[in-house]
Amino acid sequence: MGSPRQLKLGAIIHGVGHGWGDWRHPDAVADASVNFRFYRQQAQLAEAGRFDFLFIADSLHIHEKSCPHYLNRFEPLTILSALATVTEHIGLVGTATVSYTEPFNLARQFASLDHISGGRAGWNVVTSWLSGTADNFGRPEHAPHDLRYRIAREHLNVVKGLWDSWEDDAFVRDKASGKFFDPDRLHALNHQGEFFSVKGPLNIARSPQGQPVIFQAGSSEEGRNFAAQNADAIFVNPESFDEALAYYRDIKTRTAQYGRDPQKLSILPGIRPIVGRDPAEVERRYRQAVDLVSIEDALVALGRPFNDHDFSRYPLDEPFPELGDIGRDSQQGESNHIKRVAREEGLSLREAALRFSRPNRAFVGTPEQIADTLQHWFEKGAADGFTIGSLLPDSLQSFTELVVPVLQARGLLRREYAGRTLRDNLGLDVPVNRYSARRLA
Ligand SMILES: Cc1cc2nc3c(=O)[nH]c(=O)nc-3n(C[C@H](O)[C@H](O)[C@H](O)COP(=O)(O)O)c2cc1C
Repeated sequence: MGSPRQLKLGAIIHGVGHGWGDWRHPDAVADASVNFRFYRQQAQLAEAGRFDFLFIADSLHIHEKSCPHYLNRFEPLTILSALATVTEHIGLVGTATVSYTEPFNLARQFASLDHISGGRAGWNVVTSWLSGTADNFGRPEHAPHDLRYRIAREHLNVVKGLWDSWEDDAFVRDKASGKFFDPDRLHALNHQGEFFSVKGPLNIARSPQGQPVIFQAGSSEEGRNFAAQNADAIFVNPESFDEALAYYRDIKTRTAQYGRDPQKLSILPGIRPIVGRDPAEVERRYRQAVDLVSIEDALVALGRPFNDHDFSRYPLDEPFPELGDIGRDSQQGESNHIKRVAREEGLSLREAALRFSRPNRAFVGTPEQIADTLQHWFEKGAADGFTIGSLLPDSLQSFTELVVPVLQARGLLRREYAGRTLRDNLGLDVPVNRYSARRLA
């Protein structure tokens, strides 16, 4: 049976890879980002490894220096719908931005995915941090950071309201009487807010999970509050155990302050483990991953949380440049983190760029060593589980073949799926429809 509390695991399927050089690995599928066979194989691997969900990240602005995966990749809801048909249990989580979508369309798309997949949909709510995105949507400017989170609050409330348009038993479909639905169980939202005006109702029934699962990844002050208030699960990228522990405690405290049960919110650090059968293989694979990172690419990657800031203009071997407010309106939490670490540790620009692009040594090791680290973070209250990303083309395969059995043997991971929906996987209740709740009150 294993321990009562088990690790939650997500798999990031990220086409040809996170790094600018990943596609050049001899075993990389160079067109993976638009290759359905690749996505199907990765999804089925993650399901065989009994992962709770797979995750498709996204953004809506590219330029010539964007990471190869960003240049040419699937739209999340489209690929997730396709993957729903070739998997049975694994959750299907995709990114969509509140800054460049209408709540009505988005509510409908995720409800559709939840129906298609039999209750496995999850939405990673992002606000989009690259200002160039505005140019793709005819906007005069990209909304500043804190305003984006205000928009996010209203957007998400509208989406959740629309998901309740139909009570669970609204569609009667009684052929004899000709009654297709019960009008008492149909509700228009009639939302008039600061940013959105949406009458409703939504043109799709409440979905199998009641509402798709909400993921989030804010790490700034505003982002943390938004996540603590609204998310069922949170992505975060801590560099060390101490950072993860501090973030975990902070978010769980905020969650309780919002009157929510902290256990119903899963904090899932994103990690990219490198696993080898023995120390020699570990070292060989680590070197392979390091060799894929050139300093030029590391500089471009470093610029990303700073709104694609051009770091190539600074001297490489001098102290990390003084950036003032750059990054504040972009990925605020991550850019502040990089500035602080560079300052506190006295890093040069070269050292900082390589530090944040190279594999994190904490998750490099043999299957037992990796399992030890995951178990330590989990049991000491720094994580409820992890989101596993790939550094090498066979990363997910090596994780599922080598680390998953160790976690299962320790009772930290299920051997079989117990339920059918993503909410079942994550131990989340189905939210009661707000109108049904009023009726019952
Ligand atoms: C594991 C992980 C996955 C993320 N995926 C996406 C994504 O797919 N699209 C996106 O625009 N941002 C993504 N983000 C970034 C967040 O949405 C957010 O911009 C970032 O955490 C900064 O938030 P902050 O400004 O509150 O610090 C991700 C962050 C993490 C840690």
